[in-house]
Amino acid sequence: MEIKALVRNPVEISPGAVVVGFFEGETQLAGSAAALDTALGGAIAGLVAAGEIKGKLNEVTVVHTLGKLAAARVVVLGLGKPEALDPAKLGGAIAEMARALRRKGVTSIAVAPLDLAAAGIGPEAAAEAITEGALLGLYTFRQHQTKEAEFGEIDELTIIAADSEETAALAAGVARGRIIAEAAGLARDMVNEPANYMTPTIMAARAQELAETAGLEYRVLEQSDMEAMGMGGLLGVARGSREVPKLMVLRYRGRKAEKADLALVGKGITFDSGGISIKPADRMGEMKGDMSGGAAVIATMGAIARLAPRLDVLALVPATENLPDGSALKPGDVLKMMSGKTVEIISTDAEGRLILADALEYARQLGTQRIVDIATLTGACYVALGDVCSGAFGNNEELMELVLSAGKATGELIWQLPMYEEYREQNKSDIADIKNCGSRYGGAITAAQFLAEFIGDVPWVHLDIAGTFISEKERGCLVKGATGITVRALVKLVLALAANIS
Ligand code: BES
Ligand code: MN
Ligand code: ZN
Repeated sequence: MEIKALVRNPVEISPGAVVVGFFEGETQLAGSAAALDTALGGAIAGLVAAGEIKGKLNEVTVVHTLGKLAAARVVVLGLGKPEALDPAKLGGAIAEMARALRRKGVTSIAVAPLDLAAAGIGPEAAAEAITEGALLGLYTFRQHQTKEAEFGEIDELTIIAADSEETAALAAGVARGRIIAEAAGLARDMVNEPANYMTPTIMAARAQELAETAGLEYRVLEQSDMEAMGMGGLLGVARGSREVPKLMVLRYRGRKAEKADLALVGKGITFDSGGISIKPADRMGEMKGDMSGGAAVIATMGAIARLAPRLDVLALVPATENLPDGSALKPGDVLKMMSGKTVEIISTDAEGRLILADALEYARQLGTQRIVDIATLTGACYVALGDVCSGAFGNNEELMELVLSAGKATGELIWQLPMYEEYREQNKSDIADIKNCGSRYGGAITAAQFLAEFIGDVPWVHLDIAGTFISEKERGCLVKGATGITVRALVKLVLALAANIS
C-alpha cells in the first residue's frame, strides 16, 4: 500500500472514501468535516442530529456522496472521548475502518486532517498511528492459498495535511509507522507460517536474509558449537527432532560500547508437541507459533536497523522443535546447562525455559547491561491474563517501568506479575540443582523463577506472550492469527533506552 502525506482539499479529491474523525459528545462539525458536510447539503450534521453518528470509538458511518463530491464516499470515523484517545486507539480505529472499507471494495482512502489537539496527539504521532493501523489492520497471510482473495486490496492511503508546514511531520510519522508495521508484519508472517515451512534452519535463513538487507551483524551457532559450549538445555530439547537446532545471533551497533546496552532473547520453538510429555491433540497446531518470541526479536532488529537509534543491541534466538522420538528427552532425565547448573526434567513440555536458560547464559557471557526475553512460555500466563495483555516478570524496577510504558504507548499491553522468593520453592529438585517445573499453580511465575536462576544480577525483564501471540478474531490492529506482539513495544523500548542513555 502506498501511503502519502499531502496538502489537498478534501472536498475536491476523488478517492474511494474521504475519512473524517468525529469525537463522542461533539455537536458541531468543524474543519474538514464541516466543509464536507456543506458540500453534502448537511447530510453528516443530519446524521449527528438524528443520533446515528455518536462518535463512539471505532464507529464507522459510510455516507455516499451521490455526485455531490468528487469522492465516492465520506466516512465518519468515531474517535471516542478526546481525553481517552491515544495513538494506539487511533491506530485501532483506523484498522477497523480500513477493513470495513475493504469489504465494500474501496481501493483508495484519504484521511482528512484530524484535529487531535484535544487528545494531545501531534501530527507526527497521528500519522504514525494511522500508518500502523492501516498496514497492520489490513494484514493478510495468503502464502498457502491458491484461491483468489474474497476482496481486493486498498492500495492507496493519503493522509491530508492541514497546511504545507505539517507535511514534513506527517511524512516522518508515515515513515516510522511503516518501518514498525512492516516489522510486526514480518513477525506475523514467520508465526503464521506452518512448522514444516518454518523449521529452525528456515528461521535462521530468514534471520540471515533480514540481517543482510538491514545491515546487521549475523552469525549462527550450529549443533557442534552448542556441544562445545555445553548448551545442555538447547541440545536436550533438540534431541527429539530430526531438524538441527540453531542459535541465531544478531547485533546492531548504534554506538560504541563495551557491552551491549540491551540483549533481546526470543524463544524459538518452531513446533511444540510437548515431546514425550505430549500435549493433547486439540489445538496442538497452534504450537507452530511457539517461536513467536524469536520472530518478534528478529523482526524488531530489522526495525531497529532502519530507525538507527544510538544503542548497541544484541539479539539471541535459540531455535529447535520439541518432538517425541526414540532419542528424545524423557521425564526424569537430568541435563547440565551451559551455566553449569543441573536440571531435572519433570515435564518435557516445559522446554522453553530450557532453551532460554542457555541463551540467557550466552547473552551474559557475551556481555550486556540488560536483558529482555520474550517467550510463549506458559499456558498459566494465558489463564491468568487472557489475550488482553502479556505478563512481565523481572528483577529491576527501572527496566520494568520502561517496558511497561513501551507497552502502554503502543497498545501492546503488559501487566507485571510478582516474583516473590517463596515461589522458588517449587523449582527445588531432590536429584539435581533445580527441576524444570513445579505444580500447576502459579506456573507463569515459577517459569520466570526458573529463568531467573540463569540471570544472576543482570537487570532483566521476561515477557510471557502465551496469551497474546495469536488472536482468535479481528480486533483493532490485530487480525485473526499471529499478532506480531511485542515488536511495537520492543521498538519503543529501544528508542526510549537510546534517548535515556545518549
Ligand atoms: N509453549 C508452551 C506454552 C503455551 C501454551 C504457549 C499455550 C501458548 C499457548 C510451553 O512450552 C508449555 O508447554 N508450557 C507448559 C509448562 C508446564 C509443563 C509446566 C504449560 O504451560 O502447560
Ligand atoms: Mn511446551
Ligand atoms: Zn513451548
